[in-house]
Amino acid sequence: MRGPEWLCRIPRASIQLHPSQIKAAVGCVLRRADDDVDKETVARFEESFGRYQDSSFSIAVSSGKVALALILDGLGARRGDGIVMASYNVPEVISVVAGLGLRPRLADIDPDTLNIDPDEVLRVADKRTRFLLITHLYGHPADIDRLVAAADSKGLTVIEDCAQGLGATWRGRRVGTFGRASMFSFGMMKNLNTIQGGMVCTDDEALATRVRRMVVKAGFMRRAPLLKGLASSIGLRVATSRAPFSLGLFPIIRVAEGLTPALLHQATKMRPAAFETGNLDIRPMISGMNGIQAAMGLAGLPRVDVANAMRAHNAVRLASRLDGLPGVRCQMPLDAAGQSWLNFVIRVRNRLALKRSLLREGIDTTMGFLMACNRMPSMIEDAGRCPVSEELEDTNLYLPIWPELDDRDIDHVADSVIKAMDRK
Ligand SMILES: Cc1ncc(COP(=O)(O)O)c(C=O)c1O
Repeated sequence: MRGPEWLCRIPRASIQLHPSQIKAAVGCVLRRADDDVDKETVARFEESFGRYQDSSFSIAVSSGKVALALILDGLGARRGDGIVMASYNVPEVISVVAGLGLRPRLADIDPDTLNIDPDEVLRVADKRTRFLLITHLYGHPADIDRLVAAADSKGLTVIEDCAQGLGATWRGRRVGTFGRASMFSFGMMKNLNTIQGGMVCTDDEALATRVRRMVVKAGFMRRAPLLKGLASSIGLRVATSRAPFSLGLFPIIRVAEGLTPALLHQATKMRPAAFETGNLDIRPMISGMNGIQAAMGLAGLPRVDVANAMRAHNAVRLASRLDGLPGVRCQMPLDAAGQSWLNFVIRVRNRLALKRSLLREGIDTTMGFLMACNRMPSMIEDAGRCPVSEELEDTNLYLPIWPELDDRDIDHVADSVIKAMDRK
């Protein structure tokens, strides 16, 4: 039975942290922290993940960014090499690539799929460009067929950024299996949460050997920061469950949004200067995954497809209600794509007004933290304008579709958006 409305506010997201994951992590902490246990747990997670991904080699590392850096290093990326990337991106990813001495070549995104536009890849790849990084934004597979064809015609090595795409498919095959290598992220907001963590997947044995060598040299991630991360992940999980959220965070968000919505958004987007200047040196952050993370990954992996299906159910229901609503545009999947629906993002011109209306209905939303990276100070000169990315940064709003929401919640979100848009 549902409680009263004031106890059923809808948070923007829920942290994916299953009790079995907490149990696995605690079990690992209680055991003696010895290297062999860590190695064995990490190896088991790598094997399970490799089976899930149908990848010959999987190497567990400390984050998605680290995975990308290791792939590039392993592929022999040299200073000055170009890499085509979606301009709408996580700025830290651009900074990591630039910090390695590569030249990000930013390609604008497609206005319907919101993924990197294959025609733009052809436009921005120059003679010194060697790589194409394909990001599957919000769990929507990019147009693999056309992107691989574009990469082939320019002689580019394809790497897939599956940080948001775990479980998504293209023509029935998992994303992350179409390039030379792929990277995954298991951060707190992802559909597999190991607090921090990432994975390199590849069928290229020589590349896998080089990546493995670098990871072994770097050693395991330290336990102390992870334990802090685990505590905050549990705290966030509790704070974003319905009743505690309704009584605790929601009233604070409502007051803060009412007073300074734009300021609040700016604050959530603030980053250390290194991210903006493209000087992020990832090398000190390189390490292998710790046993605690691997234990969480092992416990969480069997639930990924289940939770993805629940999110997909919610997303399809919401999309069908919003279809054709004037002033609201949804991300359009391609026919060959099977989405994992990490996020449900709409574009709407006056999103602050919509955000405020939804808050009045008890629904919390976010404008996210990605950006049109051509606007980064380090990229402005090289990248020029990327109008579709800029428009997405200025109009996006993430609506909640997380797995535990039921049909009534989703209908309430849809009704509230429709009501707010009608009023405009
Ligand atoms: C598309 C994308 N790429 C890369 C990353 C970086 O992953 P990590 O935070 O694990 O380094 C993220 C993280 O949010 C992401 O969303």
